[in-house]
Amino acid sequence: MRAFPGRAAAAVLALALPVAGAAAADPHSYADPGRFLVRHVSLALTADFEAQRLEGTAELTVEQLDPYASELDLDTRDLEIRSVHLVEPSGETRVLAFTLGPRDPVLGSKLTIRFQKCCAATPRMRIRIAYRSSPEATALQWLEPAQTFGGQPYLYSQGQSIHTRSWIPLQDTPAVRLTYDALIRTPPQLVAVMSAARVQRPDDGAGEYRFEMRQPIPAYLIALAIGDLKFRGLDERVGVWTEPSQLEAAAREFADLPHMVEAGEAMAGPYRWERYDLLIMPRAFAYGGMENPRLSFISPSIVAGDRSLVSTVVHELAHSWSGNLVTNATWDDFWLNEGFTTYLERRLMEILYGERRARMEDAIGHEGLLQAIADAKASANPRDAALKLDLAGRDPDEGVSDVAYEKGRWFLGFLESRFGRPAFDAFLRSYFDAHAFQSLTTEGFRAWLLAHLDKPGAPAISVAEVDEWLYGGDMPATAPEVPRGVFEALDRAAADWRAGRLATGDLPAQDWVPQEWVRFLNEQPADLEAPKLAELRSRFGLGAEGNAEIALAWLSLVVRSGYEPAFPDLERFLLATGRYRLVIGLFRELSRTDSGLALGRRIYEKARPGYHATIRQAIERLLQPAGGTGAG
Ligand code: BES
Ligand code: ZN
Repeated sequence: MRAFPGRAAAAVLALALPVAGAAAADPHSYADPGRFLVRHVSLALTADFEAQRLEGTAELTVEQLDPYASELDLDTRDLEIRSVHLVEPSGETRVLAFTLGPRDPVLGSKLTIRFQKCCAATPRMRIRIAYRSSPEATALQWLEPAQTFGGQPYLYSQGQSIHTRSWIPLQDTPAVRLTYDALIRTPPQLVAVMSAARVQRPDDGAGEYRFEMRQPIPAYLIALAIGDLKFRGLDERVGVWTEPSQLEAAAREFADLPHMVEAGEAMAGPYRWERYDLLIMPRAFAYGGMENPRLSFISPSIVAGDRSLVSTVVHELAHSWSGNLVTNATWDDFWLNEGFTTYLERRLMEILYGERRARMEDAIGHEGLLQAIADAKASANPRDAALKLDLAGRDPDEGVSDVAYEKGRWFLGFLESRFGRPAFDAFLRSYFDAHAFQSLTTEGFRAWLLAHLDKPGAPAISVAEVDEWLYGGDMPATAPEVPRGVFEALDRAAADWRAGRLATGDLPAQDWVPQEWVRFLNEQPADLEAPKLAELRSRFGLGAEGNAEIALAWLSLVVRSGYEPAFPDLERFLLATGRYRLVIGLFRELSRTDSGLALGRRIYEKARPGYHATIRQAIERLLQPAGGTGAG
């Protein structure tokens, strides 16, 4: 056993804290990473589909930074803790006392583990917690067979933002990174996958799967899925996992994946996670994509048949650098993850699919940004229009809006315009290299940027200009001109059609890519006449099926204009998908009027059982009596 570390040793250990810049306290965690650091978790869990519980043990390797600390605080939510043991290096165990605090609606319950005098002296210790998750675990969605493509049960976890604590007791803050390994037991016909390397032991039986994540990651990136899954490699480093019936279509849709990873490396530096695979999820999956390391989870709504929606995959891949390698230290700094990723996404789309496609996606994103800023300013939380958020006391999932994504993207676009592209590319590269496997606050980034701007030859950018982007609640005066040229002809045709100068049959729609359809529909006003809506609907077969982004734009217009004949399509769509962007976009439209709210509540009643817990929370915020147009 190692000697008791003195104060000096503790100070050295404290310097090893993986947060760049001041370790601002995370308002969304009970953990105190200044006293203890959870460095590794070893999971042994059985998936009980009948009871909808994961049950087993989590063994934490904990480093003690403060030798006088005698209590370790962990994050949990709705966990049933059976026992806590200290595991001696010899393998012997000692019972440890613990208490589970009251359940806070946002944070969950603090688990406090007490050490006796004897035990607190171990600088690194192993603590084994026996527990099981609740059927209400906010991270876990247990799908009914009818919700999957193949009619088999399915389970997946969604950790971001603070949901991992509902299936693993740990320090659930993105300021702390840890490695993990896992043994997962599943029903024999099902396969488990995780955001980790697969390892197999010769004596592993049917339904036993082992994993190892050897790079330190924040807790929200620990991810598990269990289902009837098959794999197809696309080259030696990338591939796709899906239910068997989806494999062929997924392999075709994402055939460009090897090039995407290469383009990412050329832009942001070496890909540091060895493999990059996709898991194409059931329709109920809560997001378009989730950047779980080594294995992005992707909504089947992205498999459009024509590769028109692959930017989501490019986006999740880009998180391999912005987010997974360099991580927001708190959820108030969420833009560091999503703004950088959206910027990289557009740069990579330009390289892979051309300037025109990237600028179309920019223009659509920019429209969304202006709406998000307007919604935030009209809401109870106008500060949500700033990049740096203040989410203390609120569910951090409330911070998810186009502000982080698109304002972040345009902040980096502004910096790029001042640096010049080659110099900015070098800056980005050094940013990822300098902060690899670290967590960063907005202030940490700001200090690093300002230090860079102080160097000879750096572009002229003032502190006030930077701060207007980071802390201002509007679109900054220095925002670059957003190129609209890509949609000029389309916008003209749309205006002519609206004014009756162009018949519906004469719209050049046969040449439109989905992004042009989205633009056309988004530009239509709320008072568009019913006969025009009817013509669009019948001539172009607009409804609940087909390209998900077109369906979203069409159904948003249906809500906006109160076009009742298409309400059944709206309902069908909301029952068929569980994806945040699609359902929240529509429920937000519905929440803007009283009649919309009434319809929204009626549909939600039916759709609720099929939605992931995080989506339910977000919709319930929108539909609550004082609801209105909250940002999110
Ligand atoms: N990390 C996000 C998803 C997320 C954000 C989950 C916040 C929970 C809380 C992911 O990278 C993402 O942004 N997904 C988007 C797609 C993207 C192209 C905008 C989505 O789900 O639509
Ligand atoms: Zn993202």
